[in-house]
Amino acid sequence: MSLDDKAQKPHDLLAMALADDMAAVNALIRDRMASEHAPRIPEVTAHLIEAGGKRLRPMLTLAAARLCDYAGPYHIHLAATVEFIHTATLLHDDVVDESAQRRGRPTANLLWDNKSSVLVGDYLFARAFQLMTEANNMRVLEILANASATIAEGEVLQLTAAQDLATDEAVYLKVVRGKTAALFSAATEVGGVIASAPTEQVKALYAYGDALGIAFQMVDDYLDYAGTLATIGKNPGDDFRERKLTLPVIKAVAQADATERAFWQRTIEKGQQGDGDLEQAMALLAKYGTLEATRAEATLWADRAVSALDALPDLPMRQMLADLASYVVARIN
Ligand code: IPE
Ligand code: IPE
Ligand code: MG
Ligand code: MG
Repeated sequence: MSLDDKAQKPHDLLAMALADDMAAVNALIRDRMASEHAPRIPEVTAHLIEAGGKRLRPMLTLAAARLCDYAGPYHIHLAATVEFIHTATLLHDDVVDESAQRRGRPTANLLWDNKSSVLVGDYLFARAFQLMTEANNMRVLEILANASATIAEGEVLQLTAAQDLATDEAVYLKVVRGKTAALFSAATEVGGVIASAPTEQVKALYAYGDALGIAFQMVDDYLDYAGTLATIGKNPGDDFRERKLTLPVIKAVAQADATERAFWQRTIEKGQQGDGDLEQAMALLAKYGTLEATRAEATLWADRAVSALDALPDLPMRQMLADLASYVVARIN
């Protein structure tokens, strides 16, 4: 891929447009992830934060603030807050999911241990809350506190929805809205709120983030079957091993014949998995075209995200957010 191709990706265009603000966010993140008292904290946070990550959520906050003509400076604090919350949930999530790869590196739970991941995750959550108070805006605190509770609820709901073949698309949507979309919508919403944007615009930013987050998680769940370690920076097949009822599987279970249902019962409900089972699961997803169907549904949510932008000022930044929504789904190809 040439440099020009790379520069034309919506995610990179957004990063370029927001480069100064993003540099300030990264500096603030680096400053606040330190700890004078516990050396394990900077070890773990540096491992994860320096690995990069797409920085999608803080960019959403910065983009929303700019779209609503905010002059600063607190969008920087809020964007850093959002990335801290995200990073904290990743540390906890990799313990819960027993994942071994994140951002193309071994996970913190693998390199150190579960205890370090849980406690450093707690530390980052607390740092996020310290940071957001600096914006001195009660509504912003409310949005981010609510989102944090909703994310945890989504992750806990997923615990009980996993391993249960009765989990349907409605439960899946609830899980995804909670664990993923809540932070996307909070990220965009606080950008509008800190800019004192009119209610209609704040609502539109929320709707955009919500729909984008849902599309994003659907694509993530697609890539857990269709991606590779090189393309996603995580181990594909994690969801199957974790016996998660993600959309591609839910759709295959709904159409399963008796033999196939027995396969899902053994591998997902009973957790008896052996060599060739992941391949067999993939074959069933292919048989019913459920990866394609998942992609189609993600496209639908991305389209909803784009429509929500109608209520926002027609500036170049709005087009960039629209392109980003299309790209979230297009990255499947
Ligand atoms: C990972 O999010 C967690 C999900 C919601 C799927 P990202 O894919 O945005 O993670 P990073 O920050 O780029 O690593
Ligand atoms: C992502 O959950 C959502 C949160 C981290 C709260 P997943 O478990 O689906 O995401 P990955 O695949 O580990 O990134
Ligand atoms: Mg996970
Ligand atoms: Mg998880």
